[in-house]
Amino acid sequence: MDKNLSLRQNQMEESPTVISIFGGTGDLAQTKLFSALLDLFAHGALPNKFKVIGISRKNLSDQEYQTFVADSLKSKGCDYRGEIVKKFCDHFSYLAGNFDDEVTFHCLGESLKEFDRSTGQCTNKLFYLAVPPNLYRSIFRYLDESKLMKLCDGVTSWSRILVEKPFGRDLATAEALEKDLCSRFLEEQIYRIDHYLAKDAIENIIALRFANTVLADSWHGEQIESIKIRLFETKDVSSRGSFYDGVGALRDVGQNHVLQILALLTMDPLDIEKVDSLRQARAAVLRSLTAPTKVIRGQYVGYQETKGVEPNSNTETYFKIETKLDTDRWRNVPITLEAGKALAQNINDVVVTFKDRKNSAAATTGSNNFSRQSNILTIQFSPEQRITLTVSVKKPGFSFALESRELELMHSPALDVYSPEAYERVLYDCIVGDQTRFVSGQEVMAAWRFITPLLEETVTPLVKYEPGSAGVDTLIDN
Ligand code: BG6
Repeated sequence: MDKNLSLRQNQMEESPTVISIFGGTGDLAQTKLFSALLDLFAHGALPNKFKVIGISRKNLSDQEYQTFVADSLKSKGCDYRGEIVKKFCDHFSYLAGNFDDEVTFHCLGESLKEFDRSTGQCTNKLFYLAVPPNLYRSIFRYLDESKLMKLCDGVTSWSRILVEKPFGRDLATAEALEKDLCSRFLEEQIYRIDHYLAKDAIENIIALRFANTVLADSWHGEQIESIKIRLFETKDVSSRGSFYDGVGALRDVGQNHVLQILALLTMDPLDIEKVDSLRQARAAVLRSLTAPTKVIRGQYVGYQETKGVEPNSNTETYFKIETKLDTDRWRNVPITLEAGKALAQNINDVVVTFKDRKNSAAATTGSNNFSRQSNILTIQFSPEQRITLTVSVKKPGFSFALESRELELMHSPALDVYSPEAYERVLYDCIVGDQTRFVSGQEVMAAWRFITPLLEETVTPLVKYEPGSAGVDTLIDN
């Protein structure tokens, strides 16, 4: 999107870079980051000279950490040849330490300077916080106090910090975190992650909406009846119990992924070449969310027996929210946001139902003898990328009657086209300095302002559902 991107890409290849991963032996590193880095490496999309430093509490040597990375990749079904994996792992080193101990940061500084010496220049520094949110504050503090973010001059080399979601636990904690972060570092150094913004399938919403006249002209409340967003997962919380129990579905995917999909779907037309205008347009939508008319929180039966989960936990593993946007474009259009774990289906999609223009076909044909269905646009992001539009057509035969048929587009990349996964995009964009697919502080706060009141158990009591349920509202409505 950024016009200077290809220039930056060339610069990126020539600029040695160190990626320090706080939480280097954790779940995120193992499930997403190692494989994303390997993919980038195999496609020549990392700087020619780079180093990854894993930081964690475990006692490991560099050699043991390289074996740990290789084993993680293997267990995730890595299909690259052994020699590529070996070359890749050679770039890794390890630092054992605590994130609330300044000695760790001093040692990290020494490793960073060592890499600078070996390359003969001041190298770029990327700090990835792949740790639980309760550790962010101390990492911000020590990165700042140990001056690690200032080792680069910001002109010939840079320092950037990648912060995972959830960003805070509610509005108050997010505001405090943001204040702390912004008082220590510059906005251009801060990359707040929502990996959904880095998914090709989700970015496709922008192309569909704005590059197709037929949709662009009817994309407003006068033509659209309702919008539904679903993020349904069949998998349960499994081994993430201790992380998930303090978070829950509203914070885990509601405050971020689901609301960001809504923002892309409903933001006003804008200059998508401009990073700031895109971030501002998304923030404006999130600010216009109105208090929900209905909220359901659910928990699947058996969740409380998960390792790391409190026996009487009230954490929700499912939510459904009905709300509206208070803007000229969308006022009065019902919006449903729904997400959950251990459900019957694995599906992430958006369903946009257009208004039924009741009299148009009758007026044209002089007949009322047909049943008609609204046009429904379904944009499915996963498990496959698929776009369908239901249209009414004439039923073959003597009489004039309508039937509903589907136009379908399977939108999967060709096998020989490199289509980076979300975490590849996150890392790549951060290295080339493109903040478009990262959230601004304003977006984070607007999302929390909407979600925070729903976290109150007294406001939204918990409903139990059986694993494999289709959804929870059916249990309540019946
Ligand atoms: C993560 C959540 O951010 O997103 C997980 O922490 C969730 O609980 C995941 O399963 C879904 O992302 P994806 O990319 O697998 O659709």
